[in-house]
Amino acid sequence: MSKFQQLNRYLAEAKPSATYKMIDRVAEKRASGAKIISLSAGEPDFDTPEHVRQSAKDAIDAGFTRYTQVAGLRQLREAIAEKFQKENDLENVTWNHTIVCSGGKQVLYNALAATLNEGDEVIIPAPYWVSYPEMVQLSGATPVIVPCSEKHGFKLTPAQLNEAITPQTRWVILNSPSNPTGAVYSKDELQALADILLKHPHVLILSDDIYEHLIFDGQKFNTIAQVEPRLIDRTLTMNGVSKAYAMTGWRIGFATGPQWLLDAMEKLQGQQTSGASSISQYAAMAALSGSQDFVRNTNKVFEKRRDMMVQLLNDTPYLSCLKPEGAFYAFVNCAELIGRTSQSGIKLNTDEDVALALLDEANIAVVQGSAFGLAPYFRIAYALDDESLKAACTAIKDFCVSTRI
Ligand SMILES: Cc1ncc(COP(=O)(O)O)c(C=O)c1O
Repeated sequence: MSKFQQLNRYLAEAKPSATYKMIDRVAEKRASGAKIISLSAGEPDFDTPEHVRQSAKDAIDAGFTRYTQVAGLRQLREAIAEKFQKENDLENVTWNHTIVCSGGKQVLYNALAATLNEGDEVIIPAPYWVSYPEMVQLSGATPVIVPCSEKHGFKLTPAQLNEAITPQTRWVILNSPSNPTGAVYSKDELQALADILLKHPHVLILSDDIYEHLIFDGQKFNTIAQVEPRLIDRTLTMNGVSKAYAMTGWRIGFATGPQWLLDAMEKLQGQQTSGASSISQYAAMAALSGSQDFVRNTNKVFEKRRDMMVQLLNDTPYLSCLKPEGAFYAFVNCAELIGRTSQSGIKLNTDEDVALALLDEANIAVVQGSAFGLAPYFRIAYALDDESLKAACTAIKDFCVSTRI
C-alpha cells in the first residue's frame, strides 16, 4: 500500500458494520434475480406519519432551509425537553440541557469521541448493537465486552457490572429495549445496576433509549436517570425519532445529560456537521409534538408479529428463542444446528455459516449472533408484513429440517 493511502490507525482497525454487510449481500443477490426475504434490516417497515412528512414540506416552502444552531433548533429542543420531562420524569431538563444530532448514532459517537482517550475502557454488555465497540475503538479506547447469557435474559447482572469496572472505566453502555435481543430492563433491575454505579463515581452512563416506544405486554419503560436521580449528573440519556416514528432516513437523534458533556459534544459537532438537517428538525418537532397515535398503533402491530414469530421459531427443529419484550428483533439460539450439514453439503460450524447458508439455500437474510458479540445465535428483525414473516419462517423451518448430521 502506498503511503498516501494510509488510513487513520483506529479506522484501519475498525470493522465495517455486519448488518450493512448483510444488506449489501442481499442487494447483490437480488440484483442477480434471487427472491430474498430480508430479516436483517433494523428499521420499521412503515411510512413516516403523514403529519410529519407534511411539516417537512411546509418547512421547505417556508424557506427553513438554512443552517440551524449547532445544538439544534430551539423549538425542537423545547419539544425534546418536554418529552424528557413528561415521559421520563427528568424534571429539570430545559431546552438548553439538550442536543440534537444527525441520528441517534451521532449522539453516541459524539459522546464517546468527546470523552475517550487511549487507555480508557467502556463496558459493553453483549450481545450489543454492532456499532458500540467500533465507536469506542475509533475513539482510541478499549471496549470491555461482558457476555450476558440467555439464562439471565441477555441482561447485565449487578455482579457482572461490579466485576467489569476498573479505574480505567469511563462509560458503561445500557440499551433497553435491546438491539439485538429485545430484552428490557425492569425498574428493579436498573436500580440494582444503579446501586453498583453509585459506588463508582468515576463511571459515566450512556443510556441508549432509542427503542423506548417499542415495548410490549403493557410494560412501563424505565431509564436509569429516572430510576436513580443521583446518577443524573453522569448519565447521557439518548433517544431519537428513527425507530418510534419510522424516520430512519431523516437522521435525527437527541440527548440530555450533564452540561459539560453536552458542551463538548456541541463543540465537536460544530467542527463536524454544523448540526442536523433543518428540514428534518422541523419534521422531528412535528413527530414529538403531534399525535402519538402512530406510536401506539405500530407498537400493537410489532407486538402481534413478535407473538407470531416467537411461536413459529420455537416450533422449528434445532432453534429456540426467548420472548423479546421490546424493539423488533428476536435473538434466535441455533446451537443445535452447529455441527450439522446443510442440504447442499455446507458444514455449519459457526452461526456465520448458518446465516450464509440460510441466505444461499433458503433465500432468507439474518445476521449472525457473533456480529453482536454472542454466539451461536442469529438476529431476525420482524419489520415486515405478516405474509413475508410467515413465508420466512417456513423457509427457515424447511432449511433446518433438511440439515443432517
Ligand atoms: C441500539 C441502537 N442505538 C442507536 C441506533 C441509531 O439510530 P439512528 O438511526 O437514530 O442513528 C440504532 C439503529 O439501528 C440502534 O439499533
